[in-house]
Amino acid sequence: MKRIVILGSTGSIGTRTLEVIEAARGEFFVVGLAAGRNVELLEEQARRYRPRLVAVGDESAARELSGRLSDLPIRVLSGEAGLLEVAAMEADQVVVALVGAVGLLPTLAAIRAGRRVALANKETLVTAGRIVTEEARAHGVQIVPVDSEHSAIFQCLAGQRREDLAGVILTASGGPFRETPAEELSRVTVKEALQHPNWSMGGKITIDSATLMNKGLEVIEAHWLFGVDYPQIRIVVHPQSIIHSLVEMVDGSVLAQLGLPDMRLPIQYALTHPKRLAHRATRRLSLPEIGRLSFEEPDFQRFPCLRYAIEAGKMDGTMPAVMNAANEVAVGAFSAGTIGFMDIPRIVAHVMNQHAVVARPLVEGILEADRWARQEADKVVRRK
Ligand SMILES: NC(=O)c1ccc[n+]([C@@H]2O[C@H](COP(=O)([O-])OP(=O)(O)OC[C@H]3O[C@@H](n4cnc5c(N)ncnc54)[C@H](OP(=O)(O)O)[C@@H]3O)[C@@H](O)[C@H]2O)c1
Repeated sequence: MKRIVILGSTGSIGTRTLEVIEAARGEFFVVGLAAGRNVELLEEQARRYRPRLVAVGDESAARELSGRLSDLPIRVLSGEAGLLEVAAMEADQVVVALVGAVGLLPTLAAIRAGRRVALANKETLVTAGRIVTEEARAHGVQIVPVDSEHSAIFQCLAGQRREDLAGVILTASGGPFRETPAEELSRVTVKEALQHPNWSMGGKITIDSATLMNKGLEVIEAHWLFGVDYPQIRIVVHPQSIIHSLVEMVDGSVLAQLGLPDMRLPIQYALTHPKRLAHRATRRLSLPEIGRLSFEEPDFQRFPCLRYAIEAGKMDGTMPAVMNAANEVAVGAFSAGTIGFMDIPRIVAHVMNQHAVVARPLVEGILEADRWARQEADKVVRRK
Protein backbone atom coordinates (compact mmCIF):
# COMPACT_ATOMS: atom_id res chain seq x y z
CA MET A 1 0.00 0.00 0.00
CA LYS A 2 1.27 3.45 -0.91
CA ARG A 3 1.55 5.96 1.94
CA ILE A 4 -0.08 9.25 0.90
CA VAL A 5 0.16 12.78 2.32
CA ILE A 6 -2.45 15.33 1.25
CA LEU A 7 -1.69 19.03 1.68
CA GLY A 8 -4.97 20.93 1.30
CA SER A 9 -7.13 17.93 2.17
CA THR A 10 -10.25 20.01 2.94
CA GLY A 11 -10.38 21.66 -0.51
CA SER A 12 -11.90 20.59 -3.80
CA ILE A 13 -8.87 18.58 -4.99
CA GLY A 14 -8.11 17.35 -1.45
CA THR A 15 -11.57 15.91 -0.86
CA ARG A 16 -11.64 14.32 -4.33
CA THR A 17 -8.23 12.77 -3.65
CA LEU A 18 -9.71 11.16 -0.56
CA GLU A 19 -12.64 9.87 -2.66
CA VAL A 20 -10.14 8.29 -5.06
CA ILE A 21 -8.23 6.71 -2.18
CA GLU A 22 -11.42 5.36 -0.68
CA ALA A 23 -12.64 3.93 -4.01
CA ALA A 24 -9.26 2.26 -4.60
CA ARG A 25 -9.55 0.35 -1.33
CA GLY A 26 -6.34 -1.41 -0.43
CA GLU A 27 -4.05 0.58 -2.77
CA PHE A 28 -3.28 3.60 -0.59
CA PHE A 29 -3.38 4.76 2.98
CA VAL A 30 -3.25 8.28 4.33
CA VAL A 31 -0.35 9.12 6.66
CA GLY A 32 -0.56 12.92 6.76
CA LEU A 33 -3.16 15.63 6.18
CA ALA A 34 -2.84 19.41 6.18
CA ALA A 35 -5.34 22.21 5.70
CA GLY A 36 -5.92 25.85 6.62
CA ARG A 37 -8.97 26.67 8.70
CA ASN A 38 -11.60 23.98 8.22
CA VAL A 39 -11.10 22.22 11.57
CA GLU A 40 -14.45 20.46 11.43
CA LEU A 41 -13.77 18.70 8.12
CA LEU A 42 -10.19 17.98 9.08
CA GLU A 43 -11.40 16.28 12.27
CA GLU A 44 -13.82 14.18 10.24
CA GLN A 45 -11.04 13.22 7.79
CA ALA A 46 -8.60 12.43 10.61
CA ARG A 47 -11.15 10.14 12.31
CA ARG A 48 -11.88 8.34 9.07
CA TYR A 49 -8.36 7.93 7.68
CA ARG A 50 -6.28 7.90 10.91
CA PRO A 51 -3.14 9.72 9.65
CA ARG A 52 -0.06 9.97 11.89
CA LEU A 53 0.26 13.75 11.44
CA VAL A 54 -2.23 16.54 10.83
CA ALA A 55 -1.41 20.23 10.34
CA VAL A 56 -3.69 23.27 10.45
CA GLY A 57 -3.15 26.92 9.60
CA ASP A 58 -2.62 28.44 13.04
CA GLU A 59 -2.18 27.65 16.72
CA SER A 60 -5.72 28.33 17.84
CA ALA A 61 -7.07 25.96 15.15
CA ALA A 62 -4.45 23.40 16.24
CA ARG A 63 -5.56 23.69 19.89
CA GLU A 64 -9.16 23.17 18.89
CA LEU A 65 -8.28 20.19 16.66
CA SER A 66 -6.04 18.63 19.35
CA GLY A 67 -8.93 18.81 21.79
CA ARG A 68 -11.32 17.21 19.31
CA LEU A 69 -8.83 14.42 18.48
CA SER A 70 -7.55 13.81 22.03
CA ASP A 71 -8.84 10.20 21.99
CA LEU A 72 -6.67 9.32 18.96
CA PRO A 73 -2.87 8.90 18.59
CA ILE A 74 -2.59 11.72 16.01
CA ARG A 75 -0.04 14.54 16.34
CA VAL A 76 -1.50 17.94 15.51
CA LEU A 77 0.85 20.62 14.16
CA SER A 78 0.28 24.21 13.14
CA GLY A 79 1.41 27.04 10.89
CA GLU A 80 4.09 26.96 8.23
CA ALA A 81 6.39 24.74 10.31
CA GLY A 82 3.61 22.17 10.69
CA LEU A 83 2.82 22.25 6.98
CA LEU A 84 6.50 21.70 6.13
CA GLU A 85 6.80 18.82 8.60
CA VAL A 86 3.80 17.04 7.09
CA ALA A 87 5.14 17.71 3.56
CA ALA A 88 8.45 16.03 4.37
CA MET A 89 7.18 13.17 6.57
CA GLU A 90 7.89 9.55 5.68
CA ALA A 91 5.55 8.75 2.76
CA ASP A 92 5.52 7.49 -0.81
CA GLN A 93 3.71 10.39 -2.39
CA VAL A 94 2.67 13.91 -1.46
CA VAL A 95 -0.41 15.43 -3.10
CA VAL A 96 -0.06 19.22 -3.11
CA ALA A 97 -3.64 20.49 -3.26
CA LEU A 98 -3.08 23.80 -1.48
CA VAL A 99 -4.28 26.91 -3.26
CA GLY A 100 -1.96 29.82 -4.02
CA ALA A 101 1.73 30.57 -3.62
CA VAL A 102 1.57 29.06 -0.11
CA GLY A 103 2.17 25.77 -1.94
CA LEU A 104 5.75 26.61 -2.89
CA LEU A 105 7.68 25.88 0.33
CA PRO A 106 5.87 22.63 1.20
CA THR A 107 6.37 21.39 -2.39
CA LEU A 108 10.08 22.12 -2.08
CA ALA A 109 10.14 20.40 1.33
CA ALA A 110 8.54 17.27 -0.16
CA ILE A 111 10.99 17.26 -3.08
CA ARG A 112 14.01 17.74 -0.83
CA ALA A 113 12.81 14.83 1.30
CA GLY A 114 12.72 12.72 -1.88
CA ARG A 115 8.95 12.28 -1.99
CA ARG A 116 7.17 11.79 -5.31
CA VAL A 117 4.91 14.80 -5.79
CA ALA A 118 1.42 14.84 -7.32
CA LEU A 119 1.10 18.53 -8.03
CA ALA A 120 -2.29 20.20 -8.30
CA ASN A 121 -1.06 23.55 -6.98
CA LYS A 122 -0.18 25.36 -10.21
CA GLU A 123 0.96 28.53 -8.41
CA THR A 124 4.07 26.64 -7.26
CA LEU A 125 5.37 26.18 -10.81
CA VAL A 126 4.17 29.64 -11.81
CA THR A 127 6.10 31.40 -9.07
CA ALA A 128 9.24 29.26 -9.00
CA GLY A 129 9.15 26.82 -11.91
CA ARG A 130 12.89 26.89 -12.49
CA ILE A 131 13.79 26.27 -8.84
CA VAL A 132 11.18 23.56 -8.35
CA THR A 133 12.07 21.62 -11.50
CA GLU A 134 15.82 21.92 -10.83
CA GLU A 135 15.36 20.68 -7.25
CA ALA A 136 13.22 17.79 -8.51
CA ARG A 137 15.95 16.80 -10.98
CA ALA A 138 18.66 17.13 -8.33
CA HIS A 139 16.73 14.87 -5.91
CA GLY A 140 15.58 12.40 -8.57
CA VAL A 141 11.97 13.23 -7.75
CA GLN A 142 9.16 12.92 -10.25
CA ILE A 143 6.53 15.66 -10.35
CA VAL A 144 3.31 14.18 -11.68
CA PRO A 145 0.72 16.77 -12.77
CA VAL A 146 -2.83 16.68 -11.41
CA ASP A 147 -4.17 19.63 -13.42
CA SER A 148 -6.34 17.95 -16.09
CA GLU A 149 -4.62 19.70 -19.02
CA HIS A 150 -1.14 18.77 -17.84
CA SER A 151 -2.22 15.27 -16.94
CA ALA A 152 -3.51 14.96 -20.54
CA ILE A 153 -0.16 16.11 -21.95
CA PHE A 154 1.70 13.83 -19.53
CA GLN A 155 -0.43 10.88 -20.67
CA CYS A 156 -0.02 11.73 -24.38
CA LEU A 157 3.75 11.88 -23.94
CA ALA A 158 4.00 8.45 -22.29
CA GLY A 159 6.18 6.32 -24.55
CA GLN A 160 7.15 9.27 -26.79
CA ARG A 161 10.70 10.60 -27.18
CA ARG A 162 10.91 14.14 -25.79
CA GLU A 163 12.90 15.29 -28.84
CA ASP A 164 9.95 14.32 -31.08
CA LEU A 165 7.62 16.79 -29.34
CA ALA A 166 6.91 19.87 -31.48
CA GLY A 167 4.50 21.63 -29.13
CA VAL A 168 1.53 21.38 -26.80
CA ILE A 169 -2.04 22.60 -27.19
CA LEU A 170 -3.87 23.47 -23.99
CA THR A 171 -7.65 23.38 -24.17
CA ALA A 172 -9.72 25.96 -22.31
CA SER A 173 -13.46 25.83 -21.65
CA GLY A 174 -13.64 29.61 -22.07
CA GLY A 175 -15.29 29.97 -18.65
CA PRO A 176 -18.73 31.42 -17.85
CA PHE A 177 -18.13 34.64 -19.85
CA ARG A 178 -16.98 33.08 -23.11
CA GLU A 179 -19.78 34.83 -24.98
CA THR A 180 -20.19 37.90 -22.77
CA PRO A 181 -19.57 41.18 -24.65
CA ALA A 182 -16.55 43.20 -23.45
CA GLU A 183 -18.71 46.12 -22.25
CA GLU A 184 -20.68 43.84 -19.90
CA LEU A 185 -17.66 42.21 -18.24
CA SER A 186 -17.08 45.04 -15.75
CA ARG A 187 -20.62 44.48 -14.36
CA VAL A 188 -20.48 40.71 -13.81
CA THR A 189 -21.07 39.55 -10.24
CA VAL A 190 -19.11 37.16 -8.01
CA LYS A 191 -22.01 34.71 -8.18
CA GLU A 192 -21.90 34.70 -11.99
CA ALA A 193 -18.11 34.33 -12.03
CA LEU A 194 -18.40 31.32 -9.71
CA GLN A 195 -20.69 29.48 -12.15
CA HIS A 196 -18.21 27.49 -14.19
CA PRO A 197 -19.96 25.73 -17.08
CA ASN A 198 -18.15 22.36 -16.78
CA TRP A 199 -16.02 22.00 -13.65
CA SER A 200 -16.82 22.22 -9.95
CA MET A 201 -13.68 23.62 -8.25
CA GLY A 202 -12.47 25.82 -5.40
CA GLY A 203 -13.32 29.54 -5.46
CA LYS A 204 -9.95 30.94 -6.53
CA ILE A 205 -9.44 28.70 -9.57
CA THR A 206 -13.07 29.23 -10.61
CA ILE A 207 -12.57 33.01 -10.69
CA ASP A 208 -9.24 32.46 -12.49
CA SER A 209 -11.13 30.40 -15.07
CA ALA A 210 -13.59 33.26 -15.57
CA THR A 211 -10.79 35.80 -16.23
CA LEU A 212 -8.81 33.16 -18.20
CA MET A 213 -5.90 33.84 -15.85
CA ASN A 214 -6.12 30.12 -15.12
CA LYS A 215 -5.11 29.30 -18.70
CA GLY A 216 -2.23 31.77 -18.50
CA LEU A 217 -1.01 30.10 -15.30
CA GLU A 218 -1.29 26.75 -17.06
CA VAL A 219 0.88 27.98 -19.94
CA ILE A 220 3.67 28.74 -17.45
CA GLU A 221 3.03 25.41 -15.70
CA ALA A 222 3.34 23.56 -19.04
CA HIS A 223 6.55 25.42 -19.89
CA TRP A 224 8.25 24.13 -16.73
CA LEU A 225 6.69 20.68 -16.56
CA PHE A 226 7.40 19.67 -20.15
CA GLY A 227 10.34 21.91 -21.03
CA VAL A 228 8.51 23.52 -23.99
CA ASP A 229 9.24 27.10 -25.05
CA TYR A 230 6.41 29.63 -24.99
CA PRO A 231 5.96 29.84 -28.80
CA GLN A 232 5.37 26.05 -28.77
CA ILE A 233 2.45 26.35 -26.35
CA ARG A 234 -0.89 27.13 -27.96
CA ILE A 235 -4.35 27.54 -26.46
CA VAL A 236 -7.61 26.50 -28.04
CA VAL A 237 -11.02 27.21 -26.54
CA HIS A 238 -13.01 23.97 -26.43
CA PRO A 239 -16.28 24.66 -24.59
CA GLN A 240 -17.23 21.00 -23.98
CA SER A 241 -14.07 20.24 -21.89
CA ILE A 242 -13.86 16.70 -23.29
CA ILE A 243 -10.43 16.94 -24.89
CA HIS A 244 -8.24 17.85 -21.92
CA SER A 245 -5.22 18.87 -24.03
CA LEU A 246 -3.13 17.74 -26.99
CA VAL A 247 0.48 17.33 -28.06
CA GLU A 248 1.83 17.88 -31.54
CA MET A 249 4.75 15.71 -32.64
CA VAL A 250 7.45 16.72 -35.18
CA ASP A 251 5.82 14.60 -37.91
CA GLY A 252 2.56 16.55 -37.59
CA SER A 253 0.68 13.88 -35.62
CA VAL A 254 -1.52 15.36 -32.92
CA LEU A 255 -2.35 13.20 -29.89
CA ALA A 256 -5.13 14.01 -27.47
CA GLN A 257 -6.47 12.71 -24.17
CA LEU A 258 -10.25 12.70 -23.72
CA GLY A 259 -12.57 12.13 -20.80
CA LEU A 260 -15.55 13.58 -18.99
CA PRO A 261 -14.69 16.62 -16.87
CA ASP A 262 -14.05 14.79 -13.58
CA MET A 263 -10.94 15.60 -11.56
CA ARG A 264 -10.95 12.13 -9.99
CA LEU A 265 -9.45 10.77 -13.23
CA PRO A 266 -6.27 12.92 -13.33
CA ILE A 267 -5.95 12.66 -9.53
CA GLN A 268 -6.09 8.87 -9.68
CA TYR A 269 -3.63 8.72 -12.57
CA ALA A 270 -1.20 10.92 -10.63
CA LEU A 271 -1.42 8.45 -7.73
CA THR A 272 -1.14 5.24 -9.77
CA HIS A 273 1.09 6.22 -12.73
CA PRO A 274 2.37 4.28 -14.65
CA LYS A 275 -0.34 1.83 -13.56
CA ARG A 276 -4.05 2.46 -14.19
CA LEU A 277 -6.89 1.39 -11.93
CA ALA A 278 -10.48 0.73 -12.95
CA HIS A 279 -12.60 3.52 -11.46
CA ARG A 280 -16.16 2.36 -11.10
CA ALA A 281 -17.41 5.60 -9.57
CA THR A 282 -16.74 7.73 -12.66
CA ARG A 283 -19.08 7.77 -15.64
CA ARG A 284 -17.68 6.62 -18.99
CA LEU A 285 -17.29 8.96 -21.94
CA SER A 286 -19.83 8.41 -24.73
CA LEU A 287 -18.99 10.49 -27.80
CA PRO A 288 -22.42 10.04 -29.45
CA GLU A 289 -23.96 11.42 -26.24
CA ILE A 290 -21.64 14.44 -26.41
CA GLY A 291 -22.47 14.80 -30.11
CA ARG A 292 -20.24 17.69 -31.04
CA LEU A 293 -16.81 18.98 -30.08
CA SER A 294 -16.04 22.56 -31.08
CA PHE A 295 -13.00 24.81 -31.03
CA GLU A 296 -12.32 28.55 -31.09
CA GLU A 297 -9.39 30.92 -30.78
CA PRO A 298 -9.03 32.49 -27.32
CA ASP A 299 -9.87 36.20 -27.04
CA PHE A 300 -6.81 37.94 -25.62
CA GLN A 301 -8.50 41.36 -25.78
CA ARG A 302 -11.58 40.60 -23.69
CA PHE A 303 -9.50 38.49 -21.28
CA PRO A 304 -6.27 40.47 -20.72
CA CYS A 305 -5.21 38.29 -17.74
CA LEU A 306 -4.37 35.57 -20.24
CA ARG A 307 -2.00 37.95 -22.02
CA TYR A 308 -0.43 39.25 -18.80
CA ALA A 309 0.29 35.78 -17.45
CA ILE A 310 2.00 34.69 -20.67
CA GLU A 311 4.00 37.94 -20.78
CA ALA A 312 5.08 37.36 -17.17
CA GLY A 313 6.12 33.82 -18.02
CA LYS A 314 8.23 35.02 -20.92
CA MET A 315 9.84 37.76 -18.78
CA ASP A 316 10.71 35.03 -16.26
CA GLY A 317 12.75 35.83 -13.11
CA THR A 318 10.57 37.33 -10.37
CA MET A 319 7.81 38.52 -12.75
CA PRO A 320 5.62 35.38 -12.68
CA ALA A 321 5.63 35.46 -8.85
CA VAL A 322 4.66 39.15 -8.92
CA MET A 323 1.90 38.57 -11.47
CA ASN A 324 0.60 35.62 -9.44
CA ALA A 325 0.63 37.46 -6.10
CA ALA A 326 -1.15 40.50 -7.59
CA ASN A 327 -3.75 38.15 -9.05
CA GLU A 328 -4.25 36.36 -5.71
CA VAL A 329 -4.91 39.69 -3.96
CA ALA A 330 -7.18 40.92 -6.76
CA VAL A 331 -9.19 37.68 -6.86
CA GLY A 332 -9.54 37.83 -3.05
CA ALA A 333 -10.81 41.42 -3.28
CA PHE A 334 -13.22 40.61 -6.11
CA SER A 335 -14.56 37.60 -4.20
CA ALA A 336 -15.08 39.85 -1.16
CA GLY A 337 -17.05 42.31 -3.29
CA THR A 338 -14.47 45.11 -2.91
CA ILE A 339 -13.52 45.51 -6.57
CA GLY A 340 -15.09 44.78 -9.96
CA PHE A 341 -14.30 41.88 -12.27
CA MET A 342 -12.26 43.97 -14.73
CA ASP A 343 -10.27 45.48 -11.84
CA ILE A 344 -8.53 42.09 -11.60
CA PRO A 345 -6.54 42.54 -14.86
CA ARG A 346 -6.06 46.26 -14.05
CA ILE A 347 -4.42 45.43 -10.72
CA VAL A 348 -2.28 42.67 -12.23
CA ALA A 349 -1.06 45.00 -15.01
CA HIS A 350 -0.45 47.87 -12.57
CA VAL A 351 1.69 45.77 -10.22
CA MET A 352 3.60 44.14 -13.09
CA ASN A 353 4.36 47.61 -14.49
CA GLN A 354 5.85 48.73 -11.17
CA HIS A 355 8.17 45.74 -10.91
CA ALA A 356 11.83 45.63 -11.88
CA VAL A 357 12.47 41.97 -12.74
CA VAL A 358 15.23 40.14 -10.91
CA ALA A 359 16.61 37.38 -13.14
CA ARG A 360 17.21 33.89 -11.73
CA PRO A 361 16.08 34.63 -8.15
CA LEU A 362 16.63 32.23 -5.27
CA VAL A 363 13.65 31.12 -3.18
CA GLU A 364 14.08 34.12 -0.84
CA GLY A 365 13.98 36.44 -3.88
CA ILE A 366 10.73 34.84 -5.04
CA LEU A 367 9.19 35.20 -1.58
CA GLU A 368 10.32 38.83 -1.38
CA ALA A 369 8.83 39.59 -4.82
CA ASP A 370 5.60 37.88 -3.74
CA ARG A 371 5.42 39.99 -0.53
CA TRP A 372 6.15 43.22 -2.43
CA ALA A 373 3.50 42.47 -5.08
CA ARG A 374 0.86 41.71 -2.44
CA GLN A 375 1.54 45.07 -0.76
CA GLU A 376 1.33 46.94 -4.07
CA ALA A 377 -1.87 45.16 -5.05
CA ASP A 378 -3.33 45.83 -1.58
CA LYS A 379 -2.65 49.56 -1.98
CA VAL A 380 -4.67 49.63 -5.21
CA VAL A 381 -7.49 47.63 -3.63
CA ARG A 382 -7.60 50.03 -0.66
CA ARG A 383 -7.78 53.03 -3.01
CA LYS A 384 -10.88 51.47 -4.60
N1 LIG B 1 -10.34 22.26 -8.03
C1 LIG B 1 -9.97 21.77 -9.18
O1 LIG B 1 -10.72 21.06 -9.84
C2 LIG B 1 -8.57 22.05 -9.70
C3 LIG B 1 -8.22 21.61 -10.98
C4 LIG B 1 -6.92 21.81 -11.43
C5 LIG B 1 -6.00 22.47 -10.62
N2 LIG B 1 -6.37 22.90 -9.38
C6 LIG B 1 -5.39 23.60 -8.55
O2 LIG B 1 -5.29 22.87 -7.32
C7 LIG B 1 -5.06 23.77 -6.23
C8 LIG B 1 -6.16 23.58 -5.19
O3 LIG B 1 -7.39 23.99 -5.77
P1 LIG B 1 -8.79 23.73 -5.05
O4 LIG B 1 -9.81 24.14 -6.04
O5 LIG B 1 -8.82 22.37 -4.46
O6 LIG B 1 -8.72 24.83 -3.89
P2 LIG B 1 -9.65 24.95 -2.58
O7 LIG B 1 -10.88 24.15 -2.75
O8 LIG B 1 -9.75 26.37 -2.26
O9 LIG B 1 -8.76 24.20 -1.46
C9 LIG B 1 -7.56 24.75 -1.01
C10 LIG B 1 -7.00 23.94 0.13
O10 LIG B 1 -5.80 24.59 0.60
C11 LIG B 1 -5.91 24.78 2.01
N3 LIG B 1 -5.15 25.99 2.36
C12 LIG B 1 -5.28 27.23 1.86
N4 LIG B 1 -4.39 28.08 2.44
C13 LIG B 1 -3.68 27.32 3.33
C14 LIG B 1 -2.63 27.60 4.23
N5 LIG B 1 -2.12 28.83 4.36
N6 LIG B 1 -2.14 26.58 4.99
C15 LIG B 1 -2.64 25.33 4.87
N7 LIG B 1 -3.65 25.02 4.04
C16 LIG B 1 -4.17 26.00 3.28
C17 LIG B 1 -7.40 24.92 2.27
O11 LIG B 1 -7.68 24.69 3.64
P3 LIG B 1 -9.01 25.26 4.39
O12 LIG B 1 -10.12 25.24 3.40
O13 LIG B 1 -9.19 24.28 5.52
O14 LIG B 1 -8.70 26.64 4.87
C18 LIG B 1 -7.92 23.83 1.35
O15 LIG B 1 -7.74 22.57 1.94
C19 LIG B 1 -5.02 25.17 -6.84
O16 LIG B 1 -3.71 25.55 -7.11
C20 LIG B 1 -5.79 25.01 -8.16
O17 LIG B 1 -5.38 25.93 -9.15
C21 LIG B 1 -7.63 22.70 -8.92
